[in-house]
Amino acid sequence: MKKIEKSKIVIAIDGPSGGGKSTVSRLIAKRLGLSYIDTGAMYRAVALALNGADVDIENASELEEFCASMSVEYSESNIKVNGTDYTGSIRTEEAGLLASISSSKSCVRRALVEYQRGLAKEGALVMEGRDIGTVVLPDISLKFFLTASHEVRALRRHAERKGLEREAISEAMKKRDKTDSTRTDSPLVKAKDAVEIDTGALDINGVVSLILENIEQRSR
Ligand code: DC
Repeated sequence: MKKIEKSKIVIAIDGPSGGGKSTVSRLIAKRLGLSYIDTGAMYRAVALALNGADVDIENASELEEFCASMSVEYSESNIKVNGTDYTGSIRTEEAGLLASISSSKSCVRRALVEYQRGLAKEGALVMEGRDIGTVVLPDISLKFFLTASHEVRALRRHAERKGLEREAISEAMKKRDKTDSTRTDSPLVKAKDAVEIDTGALDINGVVSLILENIEQRSR
């Protein structure tokens, strides 16, 4: 690959769950020597923290109070909220569903978007999520949106989460997709200037190559 300014490069990878974002984002970060920022992990950890603190997220003042004093610490190996490490508990369907619900709340989004923008100031990173290209970093140029049909995404999630019923995974995914794409604050949509890639017919290396070629072309 032609030399790109690694100190400045920031790549946004958005899309629905099961579109291949996480694996692809991690590989791109590794190949280009960039940090990997998983914003979904932050929403999942905050959802578990809210749940653990028994916050009624439909009670605006209770939620505001939590958001105002919330501290988030993300590293590639750990995610902490208010000093508690949630790394080991965020990868469950329940955490995903809780995250999908609490991430529709504006005060949760405001706090996390501000934190994510702070991380991006350092540059040299790949940031993965739902709203990176549209809301968190709308001014960057390297934006990708990974999609695939519902069937393909549900099959992939089923392969990852062994032991869970395929139908249950498919239904949970439908529910999350609906919540994520119909919320009023920062719904899941493709940024107008993002490159859309249907990952259904490609393997992971195929998607990674497409993205790297696109970045190379644009950095000439
Ligand atoms: O990518 P994920 O499955 O770990 O995300 C969990 C939930 O968090 C997802 O249903 C929606 C929410 N999320 C979000 O609203 N914005 C992001 N940038 C990342 C995740």
